[in-house]
Amino acid sequence: MKPLAGALPSLLLRLLLTSTPGALGTNPGLVARITDKGLQYVAREGSVALQKELLRITLPDFTGDFKIKPFGRGHYEFYSLSIHSCELRGSALRPLPGQGLSLSISDSFIRVEGEWKARKAFVKLHGSFDVQVKGITISVSLVLGREPSGRPTITASGCSSHIQDVEVDISGGLGWLLNLFHNQIESKFRRVLESKVCEMLQNSVTSDLQPYLQTLPVTTEIDSFAGIDYSLMEAPRATAQMLDVMFKGEIFSRDHYSPVTFLAPVMSLPEQQDRMVYFAVSDYVFNTASLVYHESGYLNFSITDDMVPQGSNIRLTTKSFRPFVPRLARLYPNMNLELQGAMASAPSLNFSPGNLSSTPLMEIEGFVLLPSSVKEPVFRLGVATNVSAMLTFNTSRITGFLKPGKIQVELKESKVGVFNVELLEALLNYYILNTLYPKVNEKLAEGFPLPLLKDIQLYDPVLEIHKDFLFLGTNLQYKRA
Ligand SMILES: *[C@@H]1O[C@H](CO)[C@@H](O)[C@H](O)[C@H]1NC(C)=O
Ligand SMILES: *[C@@H]1O[C@H](CO)[C@@H](O)[C@H](O)[C@H]1NC(C)=O
Ligand SMILES: *[C@@H]1O[C@H](CO)[C@@H](O)[C@H](O)[C@H]1NC(C)=O
Ligand SMILES: *[C@@H]1O[C@H](CO)[C@@H](O)[C@H](O)[C@H]1NC(C)=O
Repeated sequence: MKPLAGALPSLLLRLLLTSTPGALGTNPGLVARITDKGLQYVAREGSVALQKELLRITLPDFTGDFKIKPFGRGHYEFYSLSIHSCELRGSALRPLPGQGLSLSISDSFIRVEGEWKARKAFVKLHGSFDVQVKGITISVSLVLGREPSGRPTITASGCSSHIQDVEVDISGGLGWLLNLFHNQIESKFRRVLESKVCEMLQNSVTSDLQPYLQTLPVTTEIDSFAGIDYSLMEAPRATAQMLDVMFKGEIFSRDHYSPVTFLAPVMSLPEQQDRMVYFAVSDYVFNTASLVYHESGYLNFSITDDMVPQGSNIRLTTKSFRPFVPRLARLYPNMNLELQGAMASAPSLNFSPGNLSSTPLMEIEGFVLLPSSVKEPVFRLGVATNVSAMLTFNTSRITGFLKPGKIQVELKESKVGVFNVELLEALLNYYILNTLYPKVNEKLAEGFPLPLLKDIQLYDPVLEIHKDFLFLGTNLQYKRA
């Protein structure tokens, strides 16, 4: 057997896997972790919403025939039943590993009011009644999934509800009617209510919760040329302690598609639990952004003499360059120069514990502006700098700020002889500090949004920088607009 034959299938497999989008081994760019504290908050908010839904349940009438000692046979009717008040206490939401979440509500209470009437021959009686339903427990599994579009889905499954105790108060204190209720109606009433509660829950998950989860912005615009892809990479993952949601977290160009050639790093999230939600935002998010802005030419610049401040000891004219580049002045007497700059490659942001930095490399080309308005290239410079970055959090966005470092200029190529670039260093420094940094900082101040559901506000943020990712912990508040 030829040695290659055995290797071929695995090579093919590898090729297939790496060329399929969302293939095995691709890591999320952003992970949102909902802790136990977050789940408890959601459970409380959820039970407030369910309580409102319960008040809207309509209960059926109960009618039938009775046969009671002093009266003999007759007909009864319990009607106009309505849930008058309810209190859902003890709600809890727990991760259900491999499925989603388990919602349980215990020790709850419902009060039902209604009317009754009874008839035997020509005797008619009627009145009102009041039922206290106590010790209600509800439990349901919320199965979490992912649509092909990358949006989350939720379905209720295996709902069960149990009522411990029913207490009736019938106006008129008719003992026989009370007994009738206990003997004939109570168990029917329990069963109806138990199934109504589950039906209400099921409906509420389908018609309220599912549409609400779909408010998650799967793709969001950042500005006119960049957008962010927040599609879910897999169904939310429940573990014993928490729920992790894995987002692609990729910034893309809105103009054209260009594939990202690097992978998101593996993030090992710290075990913190004191905030409701933690966002781990990997360097992938920032570096895909850098790629998009780089490709759009956002960081390209041009410096001409009219931009050089008054009083500068060097101007962008061949005359001003005479003392240190005599050949330039000789070849191109009394002409203006233009410096055109661009990043040598998309600058990447380096995450190390406690620190964020970048070491962008710029390439600057010097042109003489000939009278024929042709631009004649005469030299090329390389500019290196060390930049430290600050990231902060502003209500729902991560914003940033760059702190400039010293620049180092190097002459890479010259058609007019070797010259000392120190004088240009001051000019470039001036331009970079006064034009390029403010431009980038303005963009960073706009920030980029986190994947949040509608009407969620964040407070008490804590921000940490880990190797390869930013770790943001925050509490949530649901505020209906
Ligand atoms: C930015 O400048 C570089 C180098 O001069 C150039 O190759 C690139 O095409 C420019 N990009 C845009 C969008 O103008
Ligand atoms: C972060 O960077 C600063 C300045 O470069 C340095 O003094 C400090 O030691 C760094 N901190 C860590 C935790 O590496
Ligand atoms: C940037 O930092 C690195 C490592 O600290 C250093 O080697 C390099 O000279 C610095 N470059 C500039 C332009 O300051
Ligand atoms: C948060 O961002 C908004 C809009 O970008 C801005 O107006 C506001 O000043 C920022 N707040 C802080 C505390 O930075």
